[in-house]
Amino acid sequence: MTQFGIDFQLKVYTKTDSDSDMPISLESWRSEARKLLKDGPWGYIEGAAGSEDTMRENIRAFSRYRIRPRYLHDVDDRNQSITLFGKKYDSPFIIAPIGVQSIIHKDAEYASAGAAASLNMPYILSTVSSVSIEEIAKTYPDSDKWFQLYPGRDENVMKSMVKRAERSGYNAIVVTVDTTMLGWREQDLKNAYLPFLQGEGIANFLTDPEFLKRLDERPEDNMNAAIEEFLMVYVNPSFTWNGFKKIRQWTRLPVLVKGISSIEDANAAVSYGADGVIISNHGGRQVDGAISSLEALDEITQNGGINCTVLFDSGIRHGSDAMKALALGADGILIGRPYCYAMAVAGQRGIERYMNELKAELDLQMALSGFNSITELSRRMIYKKPY
Ligand code: FNR
Repeated sequence: MTQFGIDFQLKVYTKTDSDSDMPISLESWRSEARKLLKDGPWGYIEGAAGSEDTMRENIRAFSRYRIRPRYLHDVDDRNQSITLFGKKYDSPFIIAPIGVQSIIHKDAEYASAGAAASLNMPYILSTVSSVSIEEIAKTYPDSDKWFQLYPGRDENVMKSMVKRAERSGYNAIVVTVDTTMLGWREQDLKNAYLPFLQGEGIANFLTDPEFLKRLDERPEDNMNAAIEEFLMVYVNPSFTWNGFKKIRQWTRLPVLVKGISSIEDANAAVSYGADGVIISNHGGRQVDGAISSLEALDEITQNGGINCTVLFDSGIRHGSDAMKALALGADGILIGRPYCYAMAVAGQRGIERYMNELKAELDLQMALSGFNSITELSRRMIYKKPY
């Protein structure tokens, strides 16, 4: 009998857990985080592109997909484990790449990578992390870490970062294709806030030999010039699938494409050698008015789907959301903004607590709907409401 959700619930009801001072609902984590963060960092986390309608639509979409619960099945022995690229994880959750975590909490990526390590979840380190590839690897040598690469303008810098990740023991490369430039983010524009301009989130560049070759002076002597150079190279509007093909050839690690919203791009990713795709619209931060990520997943996985690992993000807030995406064919689920709220409130401990809440909620959701394991979830349990 494995009952993570019931055990967790009981600890909370009886106040016998050491974390009973922490919020329970996502809304409480969010409002506590809002109190702690200044307008700039808050707007950077919370903001999205243009009218922010894609971000809202990501969340609204979940209420159009309904669960058909089934009863009188024995659900006394449950687990929510998944296997990705030959490795087994205790839950379907993955820590999404979120850049510049120094603006959220003083422990920055040490907090989120530490939480992922203690929870046995894959951790995706952003290109624009505040802590370098090697530092995270050194601190958490045994946990599963993936490196997220923004396709930039300098091939040597990109290749160098991929090789650094490989050498440091990362297990996969995630190429984010929806950010060849920054979206129109009104909250950040209003606050005139771009953390990179203050030298935040550029640790991987300041430690990269190929990037340093581009500078006339050492960053210690002229940080402004280093920041300007970073802004020149870190993204690349002329990047195409042929560029992706090269990245694919630089490494033997599994390579995933993050930021897929259409069946055409999902097929392209597979044909250019991707081992996985992450259906995502970057939490609505790039294209205002884009299709919700859940509906994109539904389209992509219909009629047999595509022949690679399919991960999902953008809009996951509750256990039921995860269950719906898994039933529609996702093999794993990335968590983004919610862990930032928990991190702002209580660093690594906050993330661990929030992720355990989510795991408990998913466990109860699955059990109450009649399922013991993620492999049992299928499209059959989903009803899509007509508009
Ligand atoms: C992101 N995301 C992101 N993605 C990526 O590939 N590299 C990155 O550096 C970042 N940075 C980043 C910063 C912040 C503040 C946010 C909110 C998001 C996107 C992230 O990985 C994920 O796709 C979204 O967060 C999913 O949307 P929700 O569920 O958080 O709304």
